[in-house]
Order: sequence, then structure tokens, then C-alpha cells
Amino acid sequence: MTITIKAPLDMHLHLRDAEMLKVVAPLSAQTFSNAIIMPNLVPPVTTIEALKEYKQRIMSAIGNEKFEPLMTLFFRNDYTYDFLKEAKKYISAIKLYPSGATTNSEGGVTSMDIESLRETFEAMSELEIPLCVHGETNGFVMDREAEFGSVYEQFASNFPKLKIIMEHITTKNSVDLLEKYDNLYATITLQHLFITLDDVAGGMLKPHLFCKPIAKRYEDREALLKVALSGHPKVMFGSDSAPHPTHKKECCGCAAGVFTAPIALQALAGLFEKNNVLENLQSFVSNNAQKIYSFKPLEKNIVLEKTPFKVPNSYGDVVPMFAGEELAWSIKF
Ligand code: NCD
Ligand code: ZN
Repeated sequence: MTITIKAPLDMHLHLRDAEMLKVVAPLSAQTFSNAIIMPNLVPPVTTIEALKEYKQRIMSAIGNEKFEPLMTLFFRNDYTYDFLKEAKKYISAIKLYPSGATTNSEGGVTSMDIESLRETFEAMSELEIPLCVHGETNGFVMDREAEFGSVYEQFASNFPKLKIIMEHITTKNSVDLLEKYDNLYATITLQHLFITLDDVAGGMLKPHLFCKPIAKRYEDREALLKVALSGHPKVMFGSDSAPHPTHKKECCGCAAGVFTAPIALQALAGLFEKNNVLENLQSFVSNNAQKIYSFKPLEKNIVLEKTPFKVPNSYGDVVPMFAGEELAWSIKF
């Protein structure tokens, strides 16, 4: 059995920089046609010059693969209208991080007060630049995303023309918000469709499954599965594939991030097949995102076949999700 996915898209991807970029970028480029590239480098991508140079480094890292990185800027509330007008030529979105919420987010926003964000949000609305948000407060770790719900509601109702993407949602609460506001959309990762907190910390601690936002309860995973598997039009696949070298994961003070890029499509095919909805995979990994972001992806077909795929124990110095396990589907290269 095979299935062909037209232009698979990863709408939330960390490619990092330098040596790590050289390891991970070709892996995404082999299996996806386009991906939204996160700007949380050190220092974060906040200028057009830095953005162009980063794109150039990505293009050299992927070699001859057919792949287009869709660039983003790291949100700052002092971006002027004129700056954003120029930036729009080079970006697909702007990513807002609350300061300190996750890896390399120290330069993020310290207050979600609408007035301090208004000018930038209004400019983005007018210029039709989508806003991607890491939606977590600094409250109790299991409640951070749900607590951020009221911020999403404020953003959505005060800026009805701004397209707001709730990144890597993990809760039923966020799923419910999709129905409440026309301008709210969401990405869902691979790991949050597969695991709950039990898999991370219920038995022996699994550092390679530790990410932000942390995996939640069974009922949350159910809610995510329901919208992803049905191909809900406001929901897109965004792997949030976030590689860290092994010594930063298997240590005291484990970095947050799960590396899934090279195994994501295979695992998704298995999940959709198991639930008898393989026909909805195309919407989840491509069509929905094209409509939400209003763009045309590169022409590229990826053929998945139901042949076992043994996930490598590592790619370079990075351990992927499902390392050493066998997945039912593989990519036909
Ligand atoms: C991401 C990273 O490592 O850059 N980590 C993560 O746990 N998801 C950042 C992010 O998207 O939160
Ligand atoms: Zn991320």
C-alpha cells in the first residue's frame, strides 16, 4: 500500500544554525516541500539582514533538495510599519515568544498588555502578516497554556483582522478556542498526538520527549487527535522539531525540544491509517496550511509506503522520537 502526499508542509520547524543546521536541514528538505522556520536563534532573528543571511545558510545546508524555507522574524513591539512593510517581502509570519517561556526566548515579550502590542499588531493586520504565538504563561507548568487562553481571546477579539496561529497546542481548551474566533488557527506537533505526560514522566524519565509546552492529559490528547484526524480546516501540522545535541538532553537540566523532522510523515501515516482516515492526511500536512497562509508550495510529491522503517538511534548527535523503534510506514525515496 502507498499514499502520495502532495507538498508536505511543516508549519513550525527549528533548523538551528552552524553544524546543527547542516545535520538537520537536509532531513527536513528530503521530506517536506516548505517549512516555517522559527527565529529563536542566539541572537534571535530580528533584522531583515539577519533573516536573509540565515535563509542563505539554510539554502546552502540543503544542497540540491527541492525545499523552500518560509522565514519568520522574532516578534518585537518596536517594529515600525515601514520596517514591517519592507520585511513582508521576505517573511511568512512573525513569531511572538513570552520572555523565558522556552528555548532561546529570553528576548521575548515581557508583558501581554494589549496597549504595548497594539501598534505592531495593527501594522501586521494591515500588511496581512500572520502572528505565530508560543502561548504559555509563567504559571504552573500544566496550566500555562490554558491560562494563556485569555490572552489569545484578547488578541483575537481586539485584532479581528490579524491571523493568529496558536503554535503547538496541547490542550482541549485551545482546541475549543478555534471554534470561538474566526481569526484563531493552530499547529499541532507529532509528539502531542502520540504522548501524554505519562510517557514523559509517568515511569522512567524520558528526556527526549521533554518539550515546551509539556505533553498534557489523555483528554487533551483526545481533543487534539479529533481535530487533526478529521482534517479540521483551522489546524495544520507543525512538527516543532527542535533538535538539541545529546549532552543537552541526557543531563541534569535537560533542554526542551523533541526531534521529529525525519520520522514525522512516516509516524503520521501510521496514525492516520490506524484511525482509518488516511484520506485526511493531505489536509492536515498541506492543504489546510496553504489556505491559512494563502501561499502556493513548491511542487513536490512524497510517496509513503507501508513497509517497516527502523528509526535510527540518532541523526548526527541528535536522538529522534521513536529512536530504535520500528514504524509501519516508510518514505519511498
Ligand atoms: C523549542 C526549541 O528548542 O527551540 N523547544 C520546545 O520544547 N518546543 C522552542 C519552542 O518551540 O518552544
Ligand atoms: Zn518551536
